[in-house]
Amino acid sequence: MSRPLLDRPTLVPLFQETLGFVAAQSQRILAQYPNYLPMYTVAGKWNREGERWTHWCEGFFPGILWLLYKTTRDERWLAPARAYTRRLEPRQYDRTVHDLGFLFFSTYLREYRLTGEAQLREVLIQAGRTLALRRQKGGYLASFIGPQSLFIDIMMNVGLIFWAANATGDDSLRQIALEHCRTTARTLVRPEGGTAHEGIFDPDTGAFLHESTHQGWTAASTWTRGLAWAIYGFTAAHRLSGEEEFLATAQRCADCYLRRAPEGLVPWWDFDLPANVPHLWDSSAGAITASGLWDLAEAVRDPMQQERYRQGALTLLQTLCSDAFVPRQRPEWEGILMHGVYHYHKGLGVDESVAWGDHFFVEALVKALAGNAEAGW
Ligand code: GLY
Repeated sequence: MSRPLLDRPTLVPLFQETLGFVAAQSQRILAQYPNYLPMYTVAGKWNREGERWTHWCEGFFPGILWLLYKTTRDERWLAPARAYTRRLEPRQYDRTVHDLGFLFFSTYLREYRLTGEAQLREVLIQAGRTLALRRQKGGYLASFIGPQSLFIDIMMNVGLIFWAANATGDDSLRQIALEHCRTTARTLVRPEGGTAHEGIFDPDTGAFLHESTHQGWTAASTWTRGLAWAIYGFTAAHRLSGEEEFLATAQRCADCYLRRAPEGLVPWWDFDLPANVPHLWDSSAGAITASGLWDLAEAVRDPMQQERYRQGALTLLQTLCSDAFVPRQRPEWEGILMHGVYHYHKGLGVDESVAWGDHFFVEALVKALAGNAEAGW
């Protein structure tokens, strides 16, 4: 069924109104929970106890504050954005996680792009060098699980190594990042564009053994947030490396997403759920994809492809900005975007707001409002 094409200018009022709601919810967190790092809500309230696991999420709320500052230049966002960002400084040496891109692109890079301060650049470079130390014999950066494990999520982080390579001219960093992207494309991206969450390798020989998952329905299914990380991550890898092969991979993943997503393009949390399992949305997968498609539309050269990806991003944003996803009518709800899923199997953040969903939703909104991707980086 063909739908009428969406026109960005006619959606701008909806996007502006939604960004006003983002500002109100962000102010609410700052006022109610000083110094708090949101991760996922429980019945709409930000979770403050139990299993928190925020190690990979600590850049998302400050990332929203930087985006609010960049778009409004309202000084009230600047001091908290800086304070949250400074708290991350020791993490430039953190060897326990694979998430340094999540932490530093949303914070240090945004501040550096605004101020050009040399010290911020040094932190970004060191964080890229630290992440590169995760390299394994199989030609990939290991996940936090162990040396045998490669996650699709790491495509969101490997860009930090390309960034550090570009800043320093250190070709060994570039080679580590290229190798990681190639191994991920070869082992986790399937011919039809779907993705596995995890690949298991023999750490001694470097041989790929099999697909696996933690958050997807099965090892062989397509967990839609993983696919969203791939769309966004391979597009960023192309931009930061100039290598065409990553653009082709990003397009294969995006085409799979657009082919399989339901009306409105917000996906279920996994594309391969059996009929007897509740088909819950993961709005965060939709938000990440909206932002990634915006970048992809700017990266491809064919005008028809550009328009197809831009229409995908606008459709997703129109859906996500509706009352079905944005809790304008639910004053008790503390997040920005409802209906995300963090970890279905563990029962964490299921049908809730999640910090990365909020962050990439705001990033995509900022890109769409400005009419260019660079505004959101
Ligand atoms: N661990 C990253 C994610 O939940 O997508």
